[in-house]
Amino acid sequence: MKSPQKFWDKVAPRYAKSPIKDEKSYQKKLAITQQYLRPDWSVFEFGCGTGTTAIVHAPHVKHILATDISGKMVDIAARKARDAGIENALFRQGTLDSLELQAESFDAVLGLNILHLLEDAEAAISQVNALLKPGGIFVSSTVLIAELKLYWRLLIPAMQVLGFAPHVNRFDKQELVSMLIDAGFSIDYEWQPGKESVFIVARKER
Ligand SMILES: C[S@@+](CC[C@H](N)C(=O)[O-])C[C@H]1O[C@@H](n2cnc3c(N)ncnc32)[C@H](O)[C@@H]1O
Repeated sequence: MKSPQKFWDKVAPRYAKSPIKDEKSYQKKLAITQQYLRPDWSVFEFGCGTGTTAIVHAPHVKHILATDISGKMVDIAARKARDAGIENALFRQGTLDSLELQAESFDAVLGLNILHLLEDAEAAISQVNALLKPGGIFVSSTVLIAELKLYWRLLIPAMQVLGFAPHVNRFDKQELVSMLIDAGFSIDYEWQPGKESVFIVARKER
């Protein structure tokens, strides 16, 4: 299979044009997140895609560092932010492994539609925990591949062989919650728009 960076670089122009699948759920997730955000907060986002969510949240916080493995996604995101007049969001290409970020330097981390795409979600969750200040929050929205309809579960491996689908993890909700708790989070808020995905706000222990 292609490297994730190549895969997502190729997908980026199409991803930028695709509408949000479930606008009502997306708006609810934005609203819940904004109940937590504070004007003096530093926020980090990984897997930011074309920056849509970072651009919405930027006016509600001091600063957002939004990052993605795909340079193409980041370029589109930076252009959209410039066009929207957003000045407190910085878009950088990189991953949790490659970006050299200071421990305990963020009040919130956003990981939206990304945990199920990582090779090692457990390690990523621990890295997120290390980046957060004590009491900071990790907002995640995750597709539960194990809950997808059978035809998708059969189709994905075939699409992966052809290079049309990325690597995916098959953890269920309970496994995700366990990974968060084991990494030192408590679950502050949990919502399932449907059984195939879960939105969680997890808090790092103080
Ligand atoms: C399904 S998109 C989600 C984008 C955005 N968060 C959203 O909700 O629209 C997944 C994003 O994660 C990025 N990605 C994939 N693997 C990554 C990794 N290891 N580190 C950082 N970003 C990654 C992809 O380039 C892509 O932009």
